[in-house]
Amino acid sequence: MTFSEIPPPPEERPGEDLPFLRVRPPGPLSRTWRLRASTCLAPMGAAPSDDGPGACRAAGSLVLARGLGCNVVDVDGNRFVDLAAGFGSLLLGHAPAAVSRAVELQAARLWQAMGDVHASDAKIGLAARLAELHPERGAQVILGQSGADAITAAIKTAALATGRPGVLGFEGSYHGLGYAPLAVSSFRPGYRAPFAAQLSPHVRFLPFPASAAGAAFVLERARVELARGDVGAIVVEPILGRGGCVVPPPGFLSTLGAEARAAGALVIADEIWTGLGRSGAWLASVDAGLTPELVCLGKGLGGGLPISACVGAPGVMAAWRRRPEVVHTSTFAGAPLACAAALATLDTLSRGGVVTQARGRGDHALAELRAAVGGAPGVREIRGAGWMIGVDLGDVPGAAARLASRLLEAGYLTSTGGGEREVLVLTPPLTLPEELFSAFVRALGDALSGRP
Ligand SMILES: Cc1ncc(COP(=O)(O)O)c(C=O)c1O
Repeated sequence: MTFSEIPPPPEERPGEDLPFLRVRPPGPLSRTWRLRASTCLAPMGAAPSDDGPGACRAAGSLVLARGLGCNVVDVDGNRFVDLAAGFGSLLLGHAPAAVSRAVELQAARLWQAMGDVHASDAKIGLAARLAELHPERGAQVILGQSGADAITAAIKTAALATGRPGVLGFEGSYHGLGYAPLAVSSFRPGYRAPFAAQLSPHVRFLPFPASAAGAAFVLERARVELARGDVGAIVVEPILGRGGCVVPPPGFLSTLGAEARAAGALVIADEIWTGLGRSGAWLASVDAGLTPELVCLGKGLGGGLPISACVGAPGVMAAWRRRPEVVHTSTFAGAPLACAAALATLDTLSRGGVVTQARGRGDHALAELRAAVGGAPGVREIRGAGWMIGVDLGDVPGAAARLASRLLEAGYLTSTGGGEREVLVLTPPLTLPEELFSAFVRALGDALSGRP
């Protein structure tokens, strides 16, 4: 049977339904498609063993066929509740109506413009809108297609504006895998090791603090590094995302910003994961008292379409104007369809009060999780902000991957973080209904206690 012959799962509340499993996932069609994938998709690394840290991927990966709201359906006709939401990129869930409509309208008008030669109205409209998100008036925007693009643009901007090659990054941080972002990422040493010889030698790492005592130590280290005079930028995730949803103590980011400014270095806030409401604020860095010169956005910006942005303070972005010719561009940066999707996403996020509600609903979810499974065997800590929540399972490599596998069998999609995939990461659509989350919490309790 092919996917098109499988009757769709029954829907009661389209996009907000509980799981519905026709077959134990991954079903036969998912497995057949995966076999086909293994012949034509490059593997990017050895397949994880069935009980190793990547067990979830080896044993349980699905092939997805359609999605709506908080639900996603695989090729076997199984319906899941999606608490991973495209690695946090589906802030409004799958196929949000307002974004679909904006894309349709744009598709009837213009698909591609001409980069920096002939822009589109959609691109300029989006840039103006994004500039308003920056804490300084008159900010300017460089658009890209991935988070890695935005980080690359920010690092280049800082180099141009300061004339300094040095960059400070944080241990456990992840900024993407292009060479510039990889150079400032330390998450999973295996990502860097084969390419280490080609990465910038001007990057130094500081620990990422999870406590007040840790913060004091890190700030002292930052002062020492900044005093060397070669640092043009500090790249920081306001909350470690892939690193396992680690929230720094209050005051850390604002003091770091003050130290950077005093030393003539810029702060690049990587809000690719935390931004646009994911962590309960439009910008987690600004919410924490930091005024970053450069802000990187991606993931949720396009409502599911690939687009990213580096938004910079005017004085910093002016550095580009001093170049005698255009020195940074790409064919699809600011592509009209993605810009239209991003504008509709930003409108929906602000008009519906989604961002404002995300913090309260995330706090509520965190409290519910802590009450229900905070004391369950193996759970070390449950932490996060807004709708980015980590269930830390301690120092057991692969523990979260195995838990994610069990949750998949119960009809819930989750992802994992932490250097050893020991943190179960929840980044559902910001619009996830409370009943679906409560049902997930029950399934999590069962999965943690080994109940079927
Ligand atoms: C904080 C952060 N920055 C940057 C990136 C890279 O984004 P992309 O995968 O779109 O290149 C990610 C991706 O997970 C991320 O979490």
